[in-house]
Amino acid sequence: MEVKQAIQERHSVRHFTDQGVDADQLKEIIAVSQKAPSWVNSQPQKVYVAQGDTLKNIREQHQKFTLTGVQPTSDVSPMSRKLWSEQAQKNMAEWSGEIPETLGDDWQGIMGEESSQLYNAQAVVYLTLPKGYAAWSLFDLGAFSQNILLSATEQGINSIVAYNFVKFPQILRDELQIPDDEEIIVGIGLGFEDEQAKINQINSKRMAVEAILKMKN
Ligand SMILES: Cc1cc2nc3c(=O)[nH]c(=O)nc-3n(C[C@H](O)[C@H](O)[C@H](O)COP(=O)(O)O)c2cc1C
Repeated sequence: MEVKQAIQERHSVRHFTDQGVDADQLKEIIAVSQKAPSWVNSQPQKVYVAQGDTLKNIREQHQKFTLTGVQPTSDVSPMSRKLWSEQAQKNMAEWSGEIPETLGDDWQGIMGEESSQLYNAQAVVYLTLPKGYAAWSLFDLGAFSQNILLSATEQGINSIVAYNFVKFPQILRDELQIPDDEEIIVGIGLGFEDEQAKINQINSKRMAVEAILKMKN
């Protein structure tokens, strides 16, 4: 598969089928993703993959926490939408505003149900950085993550990056023995897209390139 095709085909999947992901294939995806650039080759990330019974336990606890209204305490705090740039707020509003067109009036219920079940992901890759990481390490982790997403796409494996995976870090620390001196940054859910699920038809547009690009000779 051409890189361009992988970039264009990747999209966030919010309901996966029950088909599992091969562990060796996952290891290969992580290994190739290590080719990402990083500040002075610092390679700051650690990677934890949950599948099978471990993921089942995480999913059950996540669901219980969600249903009982436990407050999220992710290691990286989300920022209020009001504090984002005007353009970013506009883009977020546009994306959210279009979801009811795909999911109907009960869109919040459907989104909530899927996120409480971790989208039925068959493997979740959790990415951590050492506590006190340099801001540049977040850049490095983004590059590493995109390598995972594109390598997965190339192998016909679908994905979603989500804050939702990491909003209850204590569950993950306990189940995956993640030490306290690491911050859990984000999770990537993997599996195979349920093509019947309406939630997977959510469309995400991009701004015109002219709106973000200035070129000068
Ligand atoms: C850091 C990060 C966190 C995200 N968290 C969530 C999330 O918690 N729930 C969700 O439904 N989507 C989440 N997303 C997915 C974005 O909504 C999605 O990438 C965006 O709308 C663009 O759509 P696409 O990935 O299908 O191209 C997250 C994406 C990123 C990069």
